[in-house]
Amino acid sequence: MKAEQIRHIGVVGGGVMGGGIAQIHAAAGYRVTIRDISQQILDDTREALIEGKWGVKRAVEKGKMGFDTATQVIANVDFTLEIEGLGDCDLIIEAVPEKLELKQQVFAELDAVVKADAIFTSNTSGIVIQEIAGKVSEQRKQQFVGMHFSNPVPVMSMCEIITTPQSTEETVDAVVFVANAAKRAVCMVRDTPGTRGFILNRVFAAAAREARQIVEDGIATPEDVDKAMITGRNWPAGFFGARGGIGKQW
Ligand SMILES: NC(=O)c1ccc[n+]([C@@H]2O[C@H](COP(=O)([O-])OP(=O)(O)OC[C@H]3O[C@@H](n4cnc5c(N)ncnc54)[C@H](O)[C@@H]3O)[C@@H](O)[C@H]2O)c1
Repeated sequence: MKAEQIRHIGVVGGGVMGGGIAQIHAAAGYRVTIRDISQQILDDTREALIEGKWGVKRAVEKGKMGFDTATQVIANVDFTLEIEGLGDCDLIIEAVPEKLELKQQVFAELDAVVKADAIFTSNTSGIVIQEIAGKVSEQRKQQFVGMHFSNPVPVMSMCEIITTPQSTEETVDAVVFVANAAKRAVCMVRDTPGTRGFILNRVFAAAAREARQIVEDGIATPEDVDKAMITGRNWPAGFFGARGGIGKQW
């Protein structure tokens, strides 16, 4: 599937991440169908898309989105409980809970239903993409990459694109194109069996380990570790819940 052939995106799992992922792609002009197994989740996600903290209504009020784009986002997003509703999608972005067996099963079902040339991607936080793709056909493995967004998706522009040795150049180019269209900061990552997480979560986990070690060794208090990172590196928050800013001297 070439980039310019992609028109219809299927988002599987309409929870915290799926709703945001649908919103940014609908804003980029794609038709988006969200599939979940819960009607309540679909209703809540529709509500959040329009009225939520990161929804289009507030974005228009804050001057971050034009009224026409907001109207387009709402019109571009459909909701379904049926997997068959994704049959003619060109690109699938999976955002079901972080369990390998569940993701493998979801992709095996999608493989049987979604058209053969469609691209499959997973928003896993850290599972090896080749394992998630373990139960799809050999052809689909070539059309499979990771697409890891950061929460809240409408606000955080990062998108790690994780490529496997099987991912074709055409597939990677198409996914990079779509991510750019959705105004993402694309960070390329090589899928690596035996590791957990890509760039963002590995670097953060390493920093968190150091922070805990500093406290355990009695070198500094949790508050002072947080204070150092917030005031010295401009991090929005530390590791231990201490916050600077309004009402604090630091
Ligand atoms: N929440 C975050 O901050 C964050 C950030 C980056 C990546 N992720 C990753 O994104 C994925 C989803 O996380 P989330 O926080 O959105 O989870 P969530 O629990 O909010 O949403 C998951 C949704 O998937 C639905 N679901 C379960 N089985 C399904 C199926 N078979 N078909 C369709 N829908 C199904 C659930 O009903 C639920 O609405 C996970 O892999 C997670 O690691 C999460």
